[in-house]
Amino acid sequence: MNEKIWLSSPHMGGNEQVYVKEAFDTNWIAPLGPHVDGFEKDLAAFTGTKQVAALSSGTSAIHLALILLDVKAGDEVLCQSFTFSASANPIVYQGATPIFIDSEKDTWNMCPVHLRTAITGRIKKGKKPKAIIPVHLYGMPGKMKEIIQVAKEFEIPVIEDAAEALGSTLDGQACGSFGDLGILSFNGNKIITTSGGGALISNNEAYISKARFLATQARDAAPHYQHSHIGYNYRMSNVCAAIGRGQLEVLLKRVEQRRANYSFYAEALKDIPGIIFLNEPAGYFSNRWLTSITVDPALTGGVTRETIRLALENENIESRPLWKPMHLQPVFEQAPFYGDGTSEKLFEQGLCLPSGSNLDTQSLERVTAIIKSLF
Ligand SMILES: Cc1ncc(COP(=O)(O)O)c(C=O)c1O
Repeated sequence: MNEKIWLSSPHMGGNEQVYVKEAFDTNWIAPLGPHVDGFEKDLAAFTGTKQVAALSSGTSAIHLALILLDVKAGDEVLCQSFTFSASANPIVYQGATPIFIDSEKDTWNMCPVHLRTAITGRIKKGKKPKAIIPVHLYGMPGKMKEIIQVAKEFEIPVIEDAAEALGSTLDGQACGSFGDLGILSFNGNKIITTSGGGALISNNEAYISKARFLATQARDAAPHYQHSHIGYNYRMSNVCAAIGRGQLEVLLKRVEQRRANYSFYAEALKDIPGIIFLNEPAGYFSNRWLTSITVDPALTGGVTRETIRLALENENIESRPLWKPMHLQPVFEQAPFYGDGTSEKLFEQGLCLPSGSNLDTQSLERVTAIIKSLF
């Protein structure tokens, strides 16, 4: 059996163990400590935001963001449909209803036109949505300028899901820093990892200090344990933050390596009609977390994304269909949807190719040789 090629595996930089050892040597083995503080400062500097709370996951960051924006049972929250379920699940944790919005074709992310239609539609039905959750899928920035404009017009706060887009920018500004709140993920498959972890980022310092309070069981200032709010155990461990500090040192290199994967694939497959790559519009800079293609069987002579996926799987290579839109998920069957079929088509035709920053040229060549052999 050929050696396994993973879709996106962790890639340590070298200093992580030095920082983890430091955590052990100083006995900061807790969901607080100097590495947590340091990691938060480094992330704030990197994203150009005022405050960051390091948390146990990106999902917990979205959950806290919704709580900070007072999303409660019976409320409605607008969410990009074309995403991973973690963007939408916390809406339901709060007893609120997700309203799903389709993608546009330029970035595959939330369509500002459908967003506007959804807002006016919901207001007409008597309910103004409490928040908007756009996502930067696979590292490609969404149309944040247009989305923020609509959000401002209707005075609806934005929670920007930048779980896949650390290192991506739009007109030079970091993804995650456009919304009222932004979230990051450091899950094992992300561009940098803390094994598991996430962060909430914002220029609103009051939001972040409240998030830290809620994430540590909402303890009031008292010598005994006193609580006036429901709290959560959502803080990042100092050991995980130690890994994160080592990873942040190599983040720019990781962006370069992932972008090089994209360029390699785009060049190697450029002559195959029907295999289409998503270019960056002017001003958009993607970390190319996952190189994603669409495969149009009408142009490929019948080869589909599934033909390619199975051929790769046969050779011990992991690839994955693009996210199945939330409005097509059985669990969200009842949720309203505003769109035109764009994300459905992307799901039907799209495939993520192996994209780890630790892939060597030989592995990339193995992938492209198999794809080329199908034509
Ligand atoms: C778009 C998106 N949102 C949210 C998350 C949730 O992050 P986490 O796995 O850290 O909870 C992920 C990744 O897992 C993601 O890809």
